[in-house]
Amino acid sequence: MDHKASILTNMGETLTALMRWVHISSVVTLLGGIVYARFVMIPAAGSLSPDARAALDESAAAHFRPVAYAAMTGLVLSGIYNYLLKPGHSVLYSALFGVKMLLALHVFSVAILVAAPKNPRRARQLFGAAISGLTIVLISAYLKGIA
Ligand code: HEM
Repeated sequence: MDHKASILTNMGETLTALMRWVHISSVVTLLGGIVYARFVMIPAAGSLSPDARAALDESAAAHFRPVAYAAMTGLVLSGIYNYLLKPGHSVLYSALFGVKMLLALHVFSVAILVAAPKNPRRARQLFGAAISGLTIVLISAYLKGIA
């Protein structure tokens, strides 16, 4: 390989590593936030008075909003990059990827809803999104190993 070609290859590998970092960091942030909210914050806030709990919930939602939107942006951009980079998908890959996209839509919808003000159904919605998110990670782990 000549010098120019090897520089291009290096740039491609660096961009791919960077996109993988964006994808994984965004998943950690979004899904970690959802799991922490449902299984740590909400139970811990149960000991507060109803007024104090409502105030904490609204404040947590407002702080989660920019974090969740940044993570979703990172996931969509790096996910499209990942998808376009892997050539020639099999039928099984496409089917599993389709299921992953539907589940991702569920997780994104819930992230938007729970970060919005005055939502009394946050706990139940977060539970469903945690299950969908963990299922996506399982599907993605499998997709990694197949064409
Ligand atoms: C529009 C949204 C998304 C797109 C287009 C997308 C696309 C992709 C693609 C194409 C891959 C590579 C799979 C392979 O190696 O064949 C991947 C990896 C992965 N995705 Fe996504 N994804 C999206 C959202 C999500 C979400 C919401 C989660 C989790 C909640 C997630 C978790 C993962 C994980 C854990 C990996 C494995 C990372 C690695 O091993 O490098 N993705 N994604």
